[in-house]
Amino acid sequence: MANTVTLTDNRNAKSYDFPILDGALGPSVIDISSLYKDTGMFTFDRGYTSTAMCRSSITFIDGEKGELLHRGYDIAWLAENKIFLDVVYLLLHKKLPDDLELNDFRKELKIRSFINEKMLKLFDAFPDRAHPMAVLQACIATLSTYYSRDMNYDDPKEYMELAIRLVAKLPTLAAFYYRHVMGYPIVYPDLDRGFTENFLYMMRSFPHSHVNIKPIEVKALDTLLMLHADHEQNASTTTVRTVGSTHSHPYSCISAGIGALWGHAHGGANESVIKQLEMIGSVENVDKYIKKAKDKDDPFRLMGFGHRVYKNYDPRAKVLKGLRNQLIDEIGIDSNLIKVANRIEEIALTDDYFISRNLYPNVDFNSGLILKALNIPTEMFAVMFVMGRAPGWMAQWMELKEQANVKIVRPRQLYIGPKDITPEHVGPKDVELKSRK
Ligand code: SDX
Repeated sequence: MANTVTLTDNRNAKSYDFPILDGALGPSVIDISSLYKDTGMFTFDRGYTSTAMCRSSITFIDGEKGELLHRGYDIAWLAENKIFLDVVYLLLHKKLPDDLELNDFRKELKIRSFINEKMLKLFDAFPDRAHPMAVLQACIATLSTYYSRDMNYDDPKEYMELAIRLVAKLPTLAAFYYRHVMGYPIVYPDLDRGFTENFLYMMRSFPHSHVNIKPIEVKALDTLLMLHADHEQNASTTTVRTVGSTHSHPYSCISAGIGALWGHAHGGANESVIKQLEMIGSVENVDKYIKKAKDKDDPFRLMGFGHRVYKNYDPRAKVLKGLRNQLIDEIGIDSNLIKVANRIEEIALTDDYFISRNLYPNVDFNSGLILKALNIPTEMFAVMFVMGRAPGWMAQWMELKEQANVKIVRPRQLYIGPKDITPEHVGPKDVELKSRK
């Protein structure tokens, strides 16, 4: 019996067979590529909740179990035993690096961590309160203009160079813009510091003072970046692949991904979590906001809760919660925010509204609290998400481009608009148009 499913149209008793494809892990898929040709109909899947858009070997998520694997390695093991650059290397080179490879990789990133000085002029084009995600989106699109003529971004031999240049320059662009907005002197990358520590150095250092960076802060940020590195076909990664399917410049794909990630339903949620905790303000107010979150007529949503795929505790949120508690002990986090966050989590994990909808804390719930403890400006939280996710986006773009005959993404629609409109049906405007001639 071939692995197929049969679709029967009860209107005419016609049946159609479609092949079932099995992956290495997770749900099988029904290949409906011939559906329109066979049946003259499209599928309809709002938000693509039941649609696999590609084959991939990069990241696997088990939403029911709350598991996340990068090229087969469990995220909890990676967070415990590896650093962010190990996972960047794993995503891009398809294997974990040995010590020598990791050191060489570090050097390759360091020498690419500078940006063309002309790019600094871009910052003057923005109004003072420009959101850093808008600035970053513009910077990455601009970066593509520096690597177009002398690089062939459709040549697989150039993909890795494009990927490591982006990963290396993102922290510099983020820190430089922050210094520009604050009116502080620009601090260039210090090649004697590690990748993650260097970012905190560029954010905090002043020519006249000793910069204070605690090891726990570097570990917390490094782990946070790792936990954001890739996440299968989420909205922003799907955006990167969609733009990549037209063979646009990879940095144009990444710029589009930044735009998608910025939304508060996606990567902008970490910023919204903190703003929401500050708005709730005290444990006494939590019940009022839980009620709002449960009210179908109220657009209020609990930021940092719920997930399209995880119907269990987001494994990344678990790791971040441990880190958050370590940071509380070692450097302290705003205790009132923590109390409000803990009360929200306590209710959400016991209240039937959340349990029946499988609404658990996601990666953004604790990342905002950690970034606040690291004194990262709230409006830069999503920029941290970009710094973590960029390697995953580039790995997904490379995988798309390496696949034979890339198909341009072009979904269809269920048309519900007007039909049979003919000129005589058109009202007074028609008279006006005639008089214009
Ligand atoms: C990220 O996809 C990824 O992998 C993303 C990400 C990644 O690494 O790339 O993991 C990063 O984006 C994490 C999610 C961050 N966003 C938030 O924390 C924002 C708050 N969460 C919601 O907006 C929502 O949960 C989503 C967007 C995350 C998921 O939305 P879905 O899957 O479309 O679910 P839904 O909106 O259909 O909700 C199902 C039900 C609804 O109630 P009913 O209509 O069944 O009565 O759950 C309710 C929703 O009203 N619900 C919530 C809720 N999230 C869903 N109710 C209150 N608070 C919430 N946060």
